[in-house]
Amino acid sequence: MFLEDLKLINFRSFPELRIKSFNKINCLIGENGAGKTNFMEGVYLLSSNRGFRTGDRKELTYRNAEGFFIQGSFDGDMIARTITEKKKQLTLNEEAIPANKLRVYNPIVAFSPNDIFLATGSSDTRRRFFDAAIALRDHEYSDYLATYERALRQRNASLKKDPKHANLWNEALITSGAKIIEKRLAFVKLLIPKVQTLYAELAKGSANLKYFNNFKLTQNIEEGLKKALKDSSSDDLRRKHTTKGPHRDDITILINDLPAAKSGSQGQNRTLSFALKIGSVEIIEETLGRKPILLVDDALLEVDPSKRKRIFDKINSLGVQLFLTATTKEFFSFIDKQEEVNYIDFDL
Ligand SMILES: Nc1ncnc2c1ncn2[C@@H]1O[C@H](COP(=O)(O)OP(=O)(O)O)[C@@H](O)[C@H]1O
Ligand SMILES: [Mg+2]
Repeated sequence: MFLEDLKLINFRSFPELRIKSFNKINCLIGENGAGKTNFMEGVYLLSSNRGFRTGDRKELTYRNAEGFFIQGSFDGDMIARTITEKKKQLTLNEEAIPANKLRVYNPIVAFSPNDIFLATGSSDTRRRFFDAAIALRDHEYSDYLATYERALRQRNASLKKDPKHANLWNEALITSGAKIIEKRLAFVKLLIPKVQTLYAELAKGSANLKYFNNFKLTQNIEEGLKKALKDSSSDDLRRKHTTKGPHRDDITILINDLPAAKSGSQGQNRTLSFALKIGSVEIIEETLGRKPILLVDDALLEVDPSKRKRIFDKINSLGVQLFLTATTKEFFSFIDKQEEVNYIDFDL
Protein backbone atom coordinates (compact mmCIF):
# COMPACT_ATOMS: atom_id res chain seq x y z
CA MET A 1 0.00 0.00 0.00
CA PHE A 2 1.08 3.57 -0.53
CA LEU A 3 -0.01 6.53 1.59
CA GLU A 4 -0.79 9.47 -0.69
CA ASP A 5 -2.54 11.97 1.54
CA LEU A 6 -2.93 12.28 5.31
CA LYS A 7 -5.10 14.44 7.51
CA LEU A 8 -4.94 14.51 11.31
CA ILE A 9 -7.41 16.55 13.34
CA ASN A 10 -7.08 16.99 17.09
CA PHE A 11 -4.71 14.06 17.17
CA ARG A 12 -1.88 14.08 19.78
CA SER A 13 0.11 17.32 19.35
CA PHE A 14 -1.65 18.26 16.08
CA PRO A 15 -4.80 20.41 16.12
CA GLU A 16 -4.67 20.02 12.35
CA LEU A 17 -2.07 18.52 10.04
CA ARG A 18 -2.48 17.87 6.34
CA ILE A 19 0.19 16.40 4.08
CA LYS A 20 -0.84 15.90 0.50
CA SER A 21 2.16 14.23 -1.00
CA PHE A 22 4.47 11.42 0.00
CA ASN A 23 7.25 9.46 -1.64
CA LYS A 24 8.32 5.89 -1.36
CA ILE A 25 10.92 7.03 1.18
CA ASN A 26 9.76 9.60 3.72
CA CYS A 27 12.13 11.00 6.33
CA LEU A 28 10.67 12.80 9.33
CA ILE A 29 13.08 15.26 10.87
CA GLY A 30 12.66 17.02 14.19
CA GLU A 31 13.98 17.55 17.68
CA ASN A 32 12.81 15.28 20.46
CA GLY A 33 9.20 16.06 21.18
CA ALA A 34 8.61 17.58 17.72
CA GLY A 35 5.82 15.12 16.93
CA LYS A 36 7.48 12.48 14.72
CA THR A 37 6.21 9.54 16.71
CA ASN A 38 2.80 11.21 16.99
CA PHE A 39 2.68 11.36 13.20
CA MET A 40 3.70 7.68 12.89
CA GLU A 41 1.07 6.73 15.44
CA GLY A 42 -1.59 8.54 13.42
CA VAL A 43 -0.63 6.64 10.27
CA TYR A 44 -0.54 3.38 12.23
CA LEU A 45 -4.10 3.92 13.46
CA LEU A 46 -5.27 3.64 9.85
CA SER A 47 -4.30 -0.02 10.06
CA SER A 48 -4.52 -1.05 13.67
CA ASN A 49 -6.94 -0.29 16.50
CA ARG A 50 -4.29 0.56 19.02
CA GLY A 51 -1.66 3.21 18.61
CA PHE A 52 1.74 1.62 19.10
CA ARG A 53 2.06 3.37 22.45
CA THR A 54 -1.52 3.35 23.70
CA GLY A 55 -5.12 2.75 22.77
CA ASP A 56 -6.34 5.37 25.24
CA ARG A 57 -8.62 7.94 23.60
CA LYS A 58 -7.75 10.77 25.96
CA GLU A 59 -4.01 10.33 25.47
CA LEU A 60 -4.44 10.28 21.70
CA THR A 61 -6.68 13.34 21.61
CA TYR A 62 -5.17 16.81 21.31
CA ARG A 63 -5.31 18.56 24.71
CA ASN A 64 -8.92 18.77 25.80
CA ALA A 65 -10.57 18.32 22.41
CA GLU A 66 -13.62 16.07 22.23
CA GLY A 67 -11.94 13.43 20.14
CA PHE A 68 -9.82 12.97 17.04
CA PHE A 69 -10.14 12.28 13.34
CA ILE A 70 -7.59 10.63 11.06
CA GLN A 71 -7.97 10.19 7.34
CA GLY A 72 -5.59 8.76 4.78
CA SER A 73 -5.69 7.92 1.08
CA PHE A 74 -3.95 4.67 0.25
CA ASP A 75 -3.76 3.61 -3.40
CA GLY A 76 -6.84 5.72 -4.10
CA ASP A 77 -8.85 4.28 -1.19
CA MET A 78 -9.91 6.49 1.67
CA ILE A 79 -9.56 5.15 5.20
CA ALA A 80 -10.86 7.21 8.12
CA ARG A 81 -11.10 6.80 11.87
CA THR A 82 -13.17 9.01 14.15
CA ILE A 83 -12.96 8.58 17.90
CA THR A 84 -14.88 10.71 20.36
CA GLU A 85 -16.48 9.88 23.66
CA LYS A 86 -19.76 9.10 21.92
CA LYS A 87 -18.64 7.93 18.51
CA LYS A 88 -16.21 5.32 17.23
CA GLN A 89 -16.11 5.01 13.51
CA LEU A 90 -13.83 3.22 11.11
CA THR A 91 -14.49 3.47 7.39
CA LEU A 92 -13.09 2.40 4.05
CA ASN A 93 -14.40 4.60 1.23
CA GLU A 94 -17.08 5.88 3.62
CA GLU A 95 -18.42 2.45 4.49
CA ALA A 96 -17.91 0.87 7.91
CA ILE A 97 -15.17 -1.75 8.04
CA PRO A 98 -14.44 -4.06 11.00
CA ALA A 99 -11.03 -3.59 12.64
CA ASN A 100 -9.76 -7.08 11.80
CA LYS A 101 -10.59 -6.60 8.09
CA LEU A 102 -8.90 -3.21 7.98
CA ARG A 103 -5.70 -4.66 9.39
CA VAL A 104 -5.29 -7.11 6.51
CA TYR A 105 -6.57 -4.58 3.98
CA ASN A 106 -3.98 -2.00 4.94
CA PRO A 107 -1.18 -3.78 6.82
CA ILE A 108 1.27 -1.44 8.55
CA VAL A 109 4.30 -2.67 10.46
CA ALA A 110 6.12 -0.48 12.99
CA PHE A 111 9.80 -0.90 13.88
CA SER A 112 11.03 0.65 17.11
CA PRO A 113 14.11 0.55 19.33
CA ASN A 114 12.09 -1.68 21.69
CA ASP A 115 12.23 -4.43 19.09
CA ILE A 116 15.46 -5.59 20.73
CA PHE A 117 13.19 -7.10 23.41
CA LEU A 118 11.98 -9.59 20.82
CA ALA A 119 15.25 -11.37 21.40
CA THR A 120 15.99 -10.45 25.01
CA GLY A 121 12.57 -9.91 26.60
CA SER A 122 9.94 -12.15 28.10
CA SER A 123 7.98 -14.75 26.17
CA ASP A 124 5.04 -12.37 26.43
CA THR A 125 6.86 -9.84 24.21
CA ARG A 126 7.49 -12.49 21.58
CA ARG A 127 3.93 -13.78 21.67
CA ARG A 128 2.71 -10.22 21.14
CA PHE A 129 4.99 -9.81 18.12
CA PHE A 130 3.79 -13.09 16.59
CA ASP A 131 0.16 -12.31 17.36
CA ALA A 132 0.41 -8.86 15.75
CA ALA A 133 2.19 -10.18 12.66
CA ILE A 134 -0.27 -13.05 12.15
CA ALA A 135 -3.26 -10.72 12.58
CA LEU A 136 -1.93 -8.69 9.63
CA ARG A 137 -2.13 -11.68 7.27
CA ASP A 138 -5.15 -13.50 8.64
CA HIS A 139 -8.29 -11.61 9.62
CA GLU A 140 -9.65 -14.58 11.60
CA TYR A 141 -6.69 -14.66 13.94
CA SER A 142 -7.64 -11.70 16.12
CA ASP A 143 -11.14 -13.16 16.60
CA TYR A 144 -9.71 -16.46 17.81
CA LEU A 145 -7.34 -14.56 20.06
CA ALA A 146 -10.17 -12.46 21.53
CA THR A 147 -12.32 -15.56 22.11
CA TYR A 148 -9.42 -17.38 23.73
CA GLU A 149 -8.49 -14.48 25.99
CA ARG A 150 -12.08 -14.02 27.12
CA ALA A 151 -12.49 -17.75 27.91
CA LEU A 152 -9.15 -17.75 29.70
CA ARG A 153 -10.11 -14.78 31.88
CA GLN A 154 -13.42 -16.39 32.74
CA ARG A 155 -11.86 -19.76 33.48
CA ASN A 156 -9.21 -18.17 35.70
CA ALA A 157 -11.87 -16.15 37.53
CA SER A 158 -13.84 -19.37 38.07
CA LEU A 159 -10.75 -21.17 39.37
CA LYS A 160 -10.49 -18.46 42.01
CA LYS A 161 -14.12 -18.03 42.99
CA ASP A 162 -16.24 -20.84 41.65
CA PRO A 163 -13.97 -23.80 40.82
CA LYS A 164 -16.68 -26.32 40.01
CA HIS A 165 -17.71 -24.26 36.99
CA ALA A 166 -14.21 -23.65 35.67
CA ASN A 167 -14.46 -26.37 33.02
CA LEU A 168 -17.46 -24.67 31.45
CA TRP A 169 -14.98 -22.55 29.54
CA ASN A 170 -12.91 -25.46 28.25
CA GLU A 171 -14.72 -25.86 24.97
CA ALA A 172 -14.23 -22.23 23.92
CA LEU A 173 -10.65 -22.42 25.13
CA ILE A 174 -9.94 -25.60 23.17
CA THR A 175 -11.44 -24.59 19.81
CA SER A 176 -9.92 -21.11 19.74
CA GLY A 177 -6.65 -22.23 21.40
CA ALA A 178 -6.07 -24.98 18.82
CA LYS A 179 -6.60 -22.49 15.97
CA ILE A 180 -4.14 -20.07 17.55
CA ILE A 181 -1.47 -22.75 17.85
CA GLU A 182 -2.11 -24.01 14.31
CA LYS A 183 -1.75 -20.50 12.89
CA ARG A 184 1.35 -19.73 14.96
CA LEU A 185 3.03 -22.95 13.85
CA ALA A 186 2.26 -22.19 10.21
CA PHE A 187 3.69 -18.68 10.60
CA VAL A 188 6.84 -19.87 12.38
CA LYS A 189 7.40 -22.46 9.65
CA LEU A 190 7.39 -19.68 7.06
CA LEU A 191 9.46 -17.35 9.22
CA ILE A 192 12.33 -19.73 10.05
CA PRO A 193 13.95 -19.90 6.58
CA LYS A 194 13.47 -16.14 6.15
CA VAL A 195 15.12 -15.26 9.44
CA GLN A 196 17.99 -17.64 8.69
CA THR A 197 18.63 -16.01 5.31
CA LEU A 198 18.15 -12.44 6.54
CA TYR A 199 20.36 -12.88 9.56
CA ALA A 200 23.14 -14.39 7.46
CA GLU A 201 22.87 -11.44 5.04
CA LEU A 202 23.01 -8.85 7.81
CA ALA A 203 25.54 -10.40 10.17
CA LYS A 204 27.97 -13.22 10.62
CA GLY A 205 26.62 -16.41 12.12
CA SER A 206 23.33 -18.21 12.12
CA ALA A 207 19.94 -17.58 13.65
CA ASN A 208 17.06 -19.92 14.28
CA LEU A 209 13.63 -20.09 15.96
CA LYS A 210 11.89 -22.79 17.91
CA TYR A 211 8.26 -22.83 18.92
CA PHE A 212 7.70 -24.41 22.30
CA ASN A 213 4.23 -25.32 23.31
CA ASN A 214 3.67 -26.50 26.83
CA PHE A 215 1.81 -29.74 26.20
CA LYS A 216 2.21 -32.68 23.88
CA LEU A 217 1.16 -31.73 20.38
CA THR A 218 -0.56 -34.45 18.42
CA GLN A 219 -1.88 -34.49 14.88
CA ASN A 220 -5.16 -33.19 16.26
CA ILE A 221 -4.28 -30.06 18.25
CA GLU A 222 -7.75 -29.81 19.84
CA GLU A 223 -7.43 -33.33 21.26
CA GLY A 224 -3.98 -32.52 22.63
CA LEU A 225 -5.17 -29.33 24.29
CA LYS A 226 -8.25 -31.08 25.69
CA LYS A 227 -6.07 -33.75 27.25
CA ALA A 228 -3.64 -31.15 28.61
CA LEU A 229 -6.49 -29.26 30.30
CA LYS A 230 -7.81 -32.49 31.77
CA ASP A 231 -4.41 -33.67 33.00
CA SER A 232 -3.63 -30.31 34.58
CA SER A 233 -7.04 -29.76 36.19
CA SER A 234 -5.90 -30.47 39.76
CA ASP A 235 -2.79 -28.36 39.20
CA ASP A 236 -4.97 -25.52 37.86
CA LEU A 237 -7.27 -25.76 40.89
CA ARG A 238 -4.37 -25.54 43.26
CA ARG A 239 -2.68 -22.64 41.45
CA LYS A 240 -5.98 -20.93 40.66
CA HIS A 241 -5.10 -20.28 37.05
CA THR A 242 -4.88 -22.14 33.73
CA THR A 243 -1.40 -23.59 33.35
CA LYS A 244 -1.61 -25.13 29.86
CA GLY A 245 -2.39 -23.54 26.53
CA PRO A 246 -1.07 -21.12 23.91
CA HIS A 247 -1.00 -18.23 26.41
CA ARG A 248 2.03 -19.98 27.90
CA ASP A 249 3.82 -20.88 24.67
CA ASP A 250 7.20 -19.45 23.84
CA ILE A 251 9.29 -18.98 20.78
CA THR A 252 12.96 -19.35 21.50
CA ILE A 253 15.36 -17.43 19.33
CA LEU A 254 18.81 -18.85 18.83
CA ILE A 255 22.02 -17.26 17.59
CA ASN A 256 24.71 -19.77 16.67
CA ASP A 257 22.54 -22.39 18.41
CA LEU A 258 22.49 -20.53 21.75
CA PRO A 259 19.47 -18.70 23.17
CA ALA A 260 19.73 -15.07 22.06
CA ALA A 261 18.21 -13.84 25.31
CA LYS A 262 21.13 -15.21 27.33
CA SER A 263 24.14 -15.06 25.09
CA GLY A 264 23.40 -12.69 22.20
CA SER A 265 25.33 -9.42 22.10
CA GLN A 266 23.41 -6.11 21.79
CA GLY A 267 24.39 -5.88 18.15
CA GLN A 268 23.41 -9.46 17.37
CA ASN A 269 20.09 -9.08 19.12
CA ARG A 270 19.33 -5.86 17.26
CA THR A 271 20.17 -7.45 13.93
CA LEU A 272 17.98 -10.38 14.88
CA SER A 273 15.05 -8.13 15.68
CA PHE A 274 15.37 -6.60 12.20
CA ALA A 275 15.51 -10.09 10.66
CA LEU A 276 12.32 -11.06 12.52
CA LYS A 277 10.46 -7.92 11.48
CA ILE A 278 11.65 -7.94 7.87
CA GLY A 279 10.86 -11.66 7.61
CA SER A 280 7.34 -11.06 8.88
CA VAL A 281 6.87 -8.22 6.38
CA GLU A 282 7.85 -10.61 3.57
CA ILE A 283 5.34 -13.21 4.79
CA ILE A 284 2.55 -10.64 5.06
CA GLU A 285 3.23 -9.51 1.51
CA GLU A 286 3.39 -13.07 0.17
CA THR A 287 0.11 -13.92 1.90
CA LEU A 288 -1.87 -10.84 0.93
CA GLY A 289 -0.27 -9.91 -2.36
CA ARG A 290 0.02 -6.37 -1.01
CA LYS A 291 3.03 -4.59 0.41
CA PRO A 292 2.73 -3.40 4.01
CA ILE A 293 3.81 0.15 4.87
CA LEU A 294 6.78 0.30 7.24
CA LEU A 295 7.18 2.83 10.04
CA VAL A 296 10.78 2.83 11.24
CA ASP A 297 10.57 5.00 14.34
CA ASP A 298 14.09 5.67 15.69
CA ALA A 299 14.89 1.99 15.14
CA LEU A 300 18.02 2.66 13.06
CA LEU A 301 19.30 5.14 15.62
CA GLU A 302 20.54 2.41 17.93
CA VAL A 303 22.19 0.46 15.16
CA ASP A 304 25.94 0.61 14.74
CA PRO A 305 26.46 3.33 12.05
CA SER A 306 28.47 0.93 9.89
CA LYS A 307 25.47 -1.39 9.80
CA ARG A 308 22.77 1.17 9.16
CA LYS A 309 23.24 1.20 5.41
CA ARG A 310 23.11 -2.56 5.12
CA ILE A 311 19.90 -2.78 7.14
CA PHE A 312 18.33 0.19 5.39
CA ASP A 313 19.19 -1.22 1.94
CA LYS A 314 17.57 -4.51 2.91
CA ILE A 315 14.40 -2.80 4.12
CA ASN A 316 14.35 -0.54 1.08
CA SER A 317 14.77 -3.50 -1.27
CA LEU A 318 11.39 -4.80 -0.07
CA GLY A 319 9.91 -2.12 -2.32
CA VAL A 320 7.59 -0.93 0.44
CA GLN A 321 6.73 2.63 1.37
CA LEU A 322 8.92 3.74 4.26
CA PHE A 323 8.69 6.32 7.01
CA LEU A 324 11.86 6.96 9.01
CA THR A 325 12.72 9.39 11.81
CA ALA A 326 15.80 11.30 12.96
CA THR A 327 16.67 14.60 14.62
CA THR A 328 18.78 15.81 11.67
CA LYS A 329 18.79 15.41 7.90
CA GLU A 330 22.46 14.35 8.05
CA PHE A 331 21.48 11.17 9.85
CA PHE A 332 20.00 9.88 6.61
CA SER A 333 23.36 9.82 4.81
CA PHE A 334 22.99 6.04 4.43
CA ILE A 335 20.31 6.60 1.78
CA ASP A 336 21.69 6.48 -1.77
CA LYS A 337 21.84 9.86 -3.50
CA GLN A 338 19.74 8.74 -6.45
CA GLU A 339 16.76 7.85 -4.24
CA GLU A 340 13.96 10.38 -4.27
CA VAL A 341 13.37 11.25 -0.65
CA ASN A 342 10.52 13.24 0.84
CA TYR A 343 11.83 15.14 3.88
CA ILE A 344 9.17 16.25 6.33
CA ASP A 345 10.42 18.82 8.79
CA PHE A 346 8.65 18.81 12.15
CA ASP A 347 10.71 21.66 13.60
CA LEU A 348 9.06 24.31 11.42
N1 LIG B 1 -2.72 14.33 23.49
C1 LIG B 1 -1.77 15.26 23.31
N2 LIG B 1 -2.10 16.57 23.22
C2 LIG B 1 -1.14 17.51 23.04
N3 LIG B 1 0.17 17.25 22.95
C3 LIG B 1 0.55 15.96 23.03
C4 LIG B 1 -0.40 14.90 23.21
N4 LIG B 1 0.26 13.74 23.26
C5 LIG B 1 1.58 14.04 23.12
N5 LIG B 1 1.75 15.37 22.99
C6 LIG B 1 3.03 16.07 22.85
O1 LIG B 1 3.77 15.50 21.79
C7 LIG B 1 5.15 15.59 22.08
C8 LIG B 1 5.82 14.28 21.83
O2 LIG B 1 5.79 14.05 20.49
P1 LIG B 1 6.54 12.80 19.85
O3 LIG B 1 5.84 12.53 18.59
O4 LIG B 1 6.66 11.70 20.82
O5 LIG B 1 7.97 13.43 19.59
P2 LIG B 1 9.17 12.87 18.75
O6 LIG B 1 9.35 13.83 17.60
O7 LIG B 1 10.34 12.93 19.67
O8 LIG B 1 8.84 11.49 18.31
C9 LIG B 1 5.28 15.95 23.55
O9 LIG B 1 5.75 17.26 23.61
C10 LIG B 1 3.89 15.85 24.08
O10 LIG B 1 3.64 16.82 25.03
MG1 LIG C 1 9.69 9.67 18.83
